[in-house]
Amino acid sequence: MIDIKTDREIEIMREVCKIVAIAHEEIKKSLKVGMTTREIDEITERVFKEHGANPSCKGYPHGSKNPFPAATCISVNNEVIHGIPGERVLRDGDLVSIDIVADKNGFYGDATRSYVVGKGTPEAYEIIEAAEKSFWAGVKAAQPGNRISDISHAIQDSAEKRGYSVVREFQGHGIGKEMHEEPGIPNFGKPGKGPRIMPGMTLAIEPMINEGSPDIEILDDGWTVVTYDGKLSAHYENTVFIGRNGPEVLTIL
Ligand code: MF3
Ligand code: CO
Repeated sequence: MIDIKTDREIEIMREVCKIVAIAHEEIKKSLKVGMTTREIDEITERVFKEHGANPSCKGYPHGSKNPFPAATCISVNNEVIHGIPGERVLRDGDLVSIDIVADKNGFYGDATRSYVVGKGTPEAYEIIEAAEKSFWAGVKAAQPGNRISDISHAIQDSAEKRGYSVVREFQGHGIGKEMHEEPGIPNFGKPGKGPRIMPGMTLAIEPMINEGSPDIEILDDGWTVVTYDGKLSAHYENTVFIGRNGPEVLTIL
C-alpha cells in the first residue's frame, strides 16, 4: 500500500525536510580540502540536535548485526552510496556525495547533494550536473495521473543522453512514516508502468549515475557501494510531495 499523507502530515514532513536542507546548507558552507568525512558527519549531528531531529541512518536498520554507524552517508569519487564517515581526509578534486536522513515527530526527510571539493576536473562537475538534471527530469514526470515508471524513464533518458549510466541495484522510494515506504522508484525502465502517481504521495527521488559501467560492488564493511570499474559516480536526491497541481520539493530551502 502506498501511504497517502494528510495535509497535517505534510506540514510535519515540511519541518523535518527543512532540517535536512539546513544540514546540507551548513555542510556546503564548511566543505573544504583537508577536512575529514567525520567532520562532515559532526555537522549533521549538530544541526539535527539544534532542531530536535533524530539522525535516522545511525543504527539503521534497527536490530541488524551491522547497522550503519553514522548520521551521514558520505561517498567519495568511485563510491556510489552508503560510504561510512571516518578519518578519510578530503583532497582537492574529490567528488563527495552526502546523503542525509532525519526524523522528527514520526516523519522522515531524505536528501543527497554531490559536490567537488576544491578545484576539481570538468568530468566531476559534469557528472554532478547530470545527476541533478536527471533528478529534475524525474520530478517533471512526477505529475498526478502519471505512473511511477514515468519518473524512472525520465531519469534514465536524461542521464544516458548525456553519456552516463544508471545504477540498477538501488532505487528511490516512498518516504514518510518510515524511511523507506512503497513504492520503489527505479532509476531506469519503460514509461507507463507501476502505480499511478496520486496527490498526497511523498517520494524520495534519487538518481545514482556512473561515468562508466552501471555495475557496482559492495565493500567488506557491508555498506560502501563502489563502481565496479573504479570510475566516478554521483548521487542527487530530494524528498518530493505530490500536490494536486504537481510535485513540490520539500528538502530545498
Ligand atoms: N538515504 C539513503 C536511502 O535513501 C540511506 C539510508 S542507508 C542508511 O536509502 F543505512 F544509512 F540509513
Ligand atoms: Co533515499
